[in-house]
Amino acid sequence: MGKKLTDRITWVGKVDWTLRKFHGDEYSTHKASSYNSYLVRDEKTALIDTVWLPYDKEFVTRLKEEIDLNEIDYIIANHAEVDHSGALAELMREIPDKPIYCTANGAKILKGHYHEDWNFVTVKTGDTLSLGETSLVFVEAPMLHWPDSMFVYMTGENVLFSNDAFGQHFATELLYNDLVDQAELYHEALKYYANILTPFSPLVTKKIQEVLALNLPVSMICPSHGVIWRDDPTQIVKQYLIWADGYQENQITLVFDSMWESTRKMAEAIARGIQNVDPTVTLKLHNAATQDKNDIITDIFKSKAVLVGSSTINNGLLYSIGGLLEMMKGLKFRNKKAAAFGSYGWSGEAVKQISERLAGAGFALVDDGIRIQWVPDTAAEEKCVRYGESFAKALME
Ligand code: FEO
Repeated sequence: MGKKLTDRITWVGKVDWTLRKFHGDEYSTHKASSYNSYLVRDEKTALIDTVWLPYDKEFVTRLKEEIDLNEIDYIIANHAEVDHSGALAELMREIPDKPIYCTANGAKILKGHYHEDWNFVTVKTGDTLSLGETSLVFVEAPMLHWPDSMFVYMTGENVLFSNDAFGQHFATELLYNDLVDQAELYHEALKYYANILTPFSPLVTKKIQEVLALNLPVSMICPSHGVIWRDDPTQIVKQYLIWADGYQENQITLVFDSMWESTRKMAEAIARGIQNVDPTVTLKLHNAATQDKNDIITDIFKSKAVLVGSSTINNGLLYSIGGLLEMMKGLKFRNKKAAAFGSYGWSGEAVKQISERLAGAGFALVDDGIRIQWVPDTAAEEKCVRYGESFAKALME
């Protein structure tokens, strides 16, 4: 089962090849995922994290093939979320007295999840646990991804076990960043950042700067999902600093829902106008009703501006756009401009409502948006083209 990373570190996780949805329906995993768990052996032995609950028995069975469970001295729970703590209950049935090292918040959350009074040893940033020649150094990393999250740095091996940070929902048996398709890896790492870590960007920057200031040598970064960064391991750290700093590319995303295609026609005409003014800008058009919401969010993350469109229905906006705007608000995007558009029959409230919600989500409104009544004719389409031109020009000011 285990895969040896170094003489002292063995990967004992689970590659979940068929996973297509994570966090319920909150995150699409087109490339599946993995739950990385690591067995660290020196004079003392530590197990860092476990796997998601459905694989708890399989995990413990396979772990027994790797080691006599009684030889595990310490369990490190970097994060209480069930994708990493899910096999703890099964494991603790076998070795109930072993200490579980976690943050104070980690102990609270693990108790809240499993309702067990395990032997919790709470740690803070800078605390160390000697394994013999090597030691584990604990670094609290609150909100990366939950209040309890922490990193563990192993001296001697110079390995950072970063839990959710620097991860990707990307299944591979190849383990390492240099062995997989680089474009796929970059995309999955960016999608993961965009959809999970964007709201915590200020904390990402602060934590990375705090860790960099320690000047620790890093030979590998071992996250809890996806590949291990061994080739130029700090490349992902540098990338996180870029992504956390109001990231944008020369891209504009138009996302809409459309009852009878009028709002779609508007989107395409606006896009033509944008292209008239800025032929080099990357344009992405998404129908929120039919396209994957996390792919849309990934494109919004990459964009300097976004246009959100909906037909008006029942004095409001369409369901898929309502849901997407809720996601956009929660993700706390920074440094992005926006406007609304949409067709309507009589009352036509959607554009105003979208504008208000975009402003509330922290987007800088370029203008009041554009509405077209009924099906756009040639003149109305031309109006949308002109609108796209003025929108693109406004971005250049
Ligand atoms: Fe991979 Fe926040 O759990």
